[in-house]
Amino acid sequence: MKAIYPGSFDPVTSGHLDIIVRAAALFEHLTVVVAVNSSKGPMFEQDERMELLGLACREIPNVSIRALQDRLLVDYARDAEAHVIIKGLRAVSDFEYEFQMALLNQRLAPEIETMFLMTSSEHSYLSSSIVKEIGRLGGDIRGLVPTAIVERLQLEFRARRALERTQGE
Ligand code: PNS
Repeated sequence: MKAIYPGSFDPVTSGHLDIIVRAAALFEHLTVVVAVNSSKGPMFEQDERMELLGLACREIPNVSIRALQDRLLVDYARDAEAHVIIKGLRAVSDFEYEFQMALLNQRLAPEIETMFLMTSSEHSYLSSSIVKEIGRLGGDIRGLVPTAIVERLQLEFRARRALERTQGE
């Protein structure tokens, strides 16, 4: 059976990778679907978010990375013949929003199930927003994002800080 794991991944964190590894072990194939969340302005361009995910997942054979483009997730799932949408849950605070999306998706496509995996406890405090905040302010992001992308992201954050400094002068 095939599954999809959607999100903004702006950028992918160690918590996302934990869900990807565990979901890939449960399903024949997992497609990580990179979407634009209309309520969030992304820091990284879609191509870069996909590239970072590709680096993070390059050793997991049954995972592929795709863009959602401007369409409904359930339409993507139908075209990809995936019957399961994977979501990670960190805390009760995630529940209401995820519950709403799961029910909406169920209404739009009753044949597709949303399955929730609980984030491992060591990642429960982690989010892309936290990673961006720490990176933007020059903090250490090791352990917060997949090892394969630490250096690349550090360079990226450093370049952005330098740019902000010159713009502020
Ligand atoms: O990582 P995020 O930002 O919480 O991901 C949210 C995302 C992208 C999964 C959600 O916004 C989504 O599914 N967007 C696709 C458009 C869609 O199908 N919307 C209706 C969902 S109820």
